[in-house]
Amino acid sequence: MAKGWWLFCSFLVMCLSISVQVECIGVNWGTQSSHSLPPKGVLQMLKDNGIHKVKFFDVETPILKALAGSGLDVMIGVPNHRLADMGDYNKAKQFVKENVTSFNPTSKDGVNITMVGIGNEPFLQAYKDLYINLTLPALENVQRALDEAKLGHIKATIPFNGDIYTAPYTHYVPSAGKFRDDIRDAVLPILKALDKSKAPFMVNIYPYLALYQGQGNFPIDYAFFDGTDAPVIDGEVKYDNLYEANLDTLAAALTGEGFGNMSIIVGEIGWPTDGDINANASMASRFMNGMMKRVASGKGTALRPGYTEIYLFGLLDEDGKSVDPGDFERHWGILTYDGQPKYDFDLKGENKTFVKGVKDVKYLEKKYCIAKADVTDKKALDEAISYACDRTDCTASVPGASCGSLDDNAKASYAFNSYFQTMNQAKENCDFGGLAEITDKDISQGTCKFSIQLADIPATPPTAAPKASSPGATPVEGSASTGRPLQMALALSAIILASIVL
Ligand SMILES: *[C@@H]1O[C@H](CO)[C@@H](O)[C@H](O)[C@H]1NC(C)=O
Ligand SMILES: *[C@@H]1O[C@H](CO)[C@@H](O)[C@H](O)[C@H]1NC(C)=O
Ligand SMILES: *[C@@H]1O[C@H](CO)[C@@H](O)[C@H](O)[C@H]1NC(C)=O
Ligand SMILES: *[C@@H]1O[C@H](CO)[C@@H](O)[C@H](O)[C@H]1NC(C)=O
Ligand SMILES: *[C@@H]1O[C@H](CO)[C@@H](O)[C@H](O)[C@H]1NC(C)=O
Ligand SMILES: *[C@@H]1O[C@H](CO)[C@@H](O)[C@H](O)[C@H]1NC(C)=O
Repeated sequence: MAKGWWLFCSFLVMCLSISVQVECIGVNWGTQSSHSLPPKGVLQMLKDNGIHKVKFFDVETPILKALAGSGLDVMIGVPNHRLADMGDYNKAKQFVKENVTSFNPTSKDGVNITMVGIGNEPFLQAYKDLYINLTLPALENVQRALDEAKLGHIKATIPFNGDIYTAPYTHYVPSAGKFRDDIRDAVLPILKALDKSKAPFMVNIYPYLALYQGQGNFPIDYAFFDGTDAPVIDGEVKYDNLYEANLDTLAAALTGEGFGNMSIIVGEIGWPTDGDINANASMASRFMNGMMKRVASGKGTALRPGYTEIYLFGLLDEDGKSVDPGDFERHWGILTYDGQPKYDFDLKGENKTFVKGVKDVKYLEKKYCIAKADVTDKKALDEAISYACDRTDCTASVPGASCGSLDDNAKASYAFNSYFQTMNQAKENCDFGGLAEITDKDISQGTCKFSIQLADIPATPPTAAPKASSPGATPVEGSASTGRPLQMALALSAIILASIVL
């Protein structure tokens, strides 16, 4: 008991007092890209930035191998499509043996696995009740297998979406937070299990999605941290941002069920930079720097004073992600696909030292595929654009995005080049019925960047998730391939919508 208390303290002290809050910042390292950076280069970048925690959506074996001995804290994940399997204790035991124990998590030379995510947002409304009864047994079995392997310090937890709780419409304030009626019966035993194993509650919170789904009715400043209004007033407490109001709604929901002491970790938080009118580098900078300043202050919220551990979403742009949630979905990275900073972002919330990129990145040759200048057949161009864009990432060229205002010919060039790069610049992939040609001249204009893909790194074979090396492949819903799927983070925005409409 005494020892446990001391550990608890020392952890708090580490995260609170050394105002190097960046020690406690984690990042989500997604891998749904057509081309990947070498893990060693990414690892060096994490070290250069003082980032000590990474979270994965699966067991990324080749990356984990590269992280051995790095000292990084690592969270791995069991994808949703394996939750049913984990209901069988023997399979959970096998999983722990093959995917945790084998990485020597307690050795200095091993991979310091500290958490195992059970599913990813399994109670998302879009999944209906697909995982509702599969999640608890998976959680219990994986934790039991960890305990039996003498790895009980590794905690199994569930990364939940931020709309599993809400507040009554008659009293729509954070302090009245409660778990949604339709899933409460499933959540309560999960809370008991997490409490028993002393695991944290993990939740993903996305003010950006509230703004996106609010379609112009959402008070924009409330998505950020520098607004002058406090649209949500809860007794003595004034909330000027959705993130803190949402977190306190969860805190109240936990207290209401008798788990007021359960620690909360924010599993994903971020802002995309392309593919939508509100997704650009200046909006992302405003959100991320504002958020880091709040988080780094360690003050916390009314209901959760003190430091909250957060995992940023995400590390890199991923051109193979499903665009079901929206065209912004491939642009959540704090770094571009090739590991370079998109805007000045200070992980200490001081607006002073900014995130550094990956060094010594290897690219394909400096060659682009563009539409021939004299092509005027709009129908042929449109058909070629659809062909290319069904097979590669064109989300930067939708209206409102960074390449959204190109003319027809340049838009075709954007699509052709994107396809050509995805296909590793193979000559036959720059033809499009004679409409296209290869050039070494970069025709990027303004905010619209034409890119060169990364050189293929044979040492990092693709992981289990279907990658965009087969772009256009439909990701399996509910598998890790959808990564962070559609979520309706509207908690505490509905009242605001209502008050604005009224
Ligand atoms: C270990 O993880 C990988 C990747 O998710 C998975 O394919 C494999 O089945 C897991 N092993 C076991 C025994 O569950
Ligand atoms: C793993 O990480 C935890 C939490 O940061 C730390 O206390 C522990 O010493 C680390 N273990 C190893 C083997 O590095
Ligand atoms: C989940 O379990 C409950 C209680 O046993 C049952 O009523 C419900 O039908 C189950 N739901 C599904 C989708 O299997
Ligand atoms: C929560 O923690 C505080 C301080 O450690 C303690 O006094 C209190 O009894 C705990 N409450 C519950 C419900 O465990
Ligand atoms: C970013 O988006 C906002 C909101 O749409 C817009 O006002 C701003 O001009 C954009 N900034 C840039 C640099 O495009
Ligand atoms: C960060 O500093 C720059 C210049 O030093 C300033 O223009 C900018 O407004 C600052 N941003 C924030 C969020 O304080």
